[in-house]
Amino acid sequence: MKVTVGICGGIAAYKSAELVRALQQQALDVHVVMTESATRFITPLTLSSLSGHRVITSLWDATATPETGSSIDHIAVAQSTDALVVAPATADMLAKFAHGLADDFLSTLYLATAAPVIVAPAMNVNMWEHPATRANLETLASRSVRIVEPESGDLACGMVGAGRLAEIPRIVDAVLGSLHRRHDLAQETVIVTAAGTREAIDPVRFLGNRSSGRMGYALAEAAERRGAKVILISGPSSLQPPSRCELISITTAEEMRAALLERLPEATMVIKSAAVADYRARVVAETKMKRSGPIKLELEPTEDILREVVELRKPGTLVIGFAAETENAIEHGRGKLERKGVDAIVINDVSRRGIGFDSERNAATFLTRQTAIDFPEMTKRVMADRILDEAMELRRPRQLVAEFAMPSRKSPLMEE
Ligand code: CTP
Repeated sequence: MKVTVGICGGIAAYKSAELVRALQQQALDVHVVMTESATRFITPLTLSSLSGHRVITSLWDATATPETGSSIDHIAVAQSTDALVVAPATADMLAKFAHGLADDFLSTLYLATAAPVIVAPAMNVNMWEHPATRANLETLASRSVRIVEPESGDLACGMVGAGRLAEIPRIVDAVLGSLHRRHDLAQETVIVTAAGTREAIDPVRFLGNRSSGRMGYALAEAAERRGAKVILISGPSSLQPPSRCELISITTAEEMRAALLERLPEATMVIKSAAVADYRARVVAETKMKRSGPIKLELEPTEDILREVVELRKPGTLVIGFAAETENAIEHGRGKLERKGVDAIVINDVSRRGIGFDSERNAATFLTRQTAIDFPEMTKRVMADRILDEAMELRRPRQLVAEFAMPSRKSPLMEE
């Protein structure tokens, strides 16, 4: 696997030589990109000697090389790398990444790559704590950039505090974690249900709900990116489905049920994030209902698809449900976990403003029979990866933990 190490101009740049070595010891093919100012702290010759590859230092030295036979362009590097790790990452480079500036090779590479990105910042403590840097880090974290936070201690500038480049093994661990995560669903066939269902009451009207499908589409995209075969069964949504997943468009709860049960034998994991109608009209009017004073609609319950999935799944298929709650979220979620027999349930408190329905952001609790894991407010894209991380944890052989204990694990925004 190929890892690109980006080096920025800071005193900690000398430590990147050690990082290159440590990554090579993990049998990784390491390539190096340096900013202009990084070359003032450590020479490209040192890093090309260590890595065994020519070091890229500028957008403008992208001339023909013996290795490629053609020019090194940032797109080719972006596509061929399996991870980009920037260490040390300066405040300036974090700002460029956060704002999409692309005026040197490294910042251009960041924009052009779809590979996981890890940044290990190092800087003066005041720069590290400055609201501008914090805001940039928040932006990067929300885009799934993995941040290996600096350590506290004596800094080269003479001050004491946070800002010292993280120890090399921590950076290596973060890189390995990202590489592993990238393909960790390669053996899985994941069915994701998304968006809301619609139940007709006459030819023009329906009973629906506010679900946009964002969470389900983010899950489908993350699962696909991590190597899974993905079948996305979606109610009406304006969102673009991930490029390679198989999309099955449905409208009603019954159509979702039929599609899901038909494909269930293929699934190794089912994530049911759709907001399924609990009721449908007992009789659907054949012609448009006319306005004529108060009316009564007789409704009948839809089938509980999730419970059927649990009953009919093949052994080993993980089933994860969602629960949108407006009160006593954890208590109700726990009840659903038991009633439906799922392996885990993601509980959203949809009464909170600005998150949940039709929003880019969410906060949730991932509840299993053993644990209740808190996902603080984050983007749905980041949460999708966290949900898949925890789902894959369920695949690991059970450790001997006290089943009666219910530890609450925090999920830090950074460095996961
Ligand atoms: N669900 C389902 N079939 C239904 C209703 C819900 O499969 N007919 C699934 C949803 O996709 C979700 C989970 O069940 O994963 C919980 O949905 P929710 O509406 O919160 O639960 P209900 O069982 O409908 O409970 P209630 O409405 O009483 O809160």
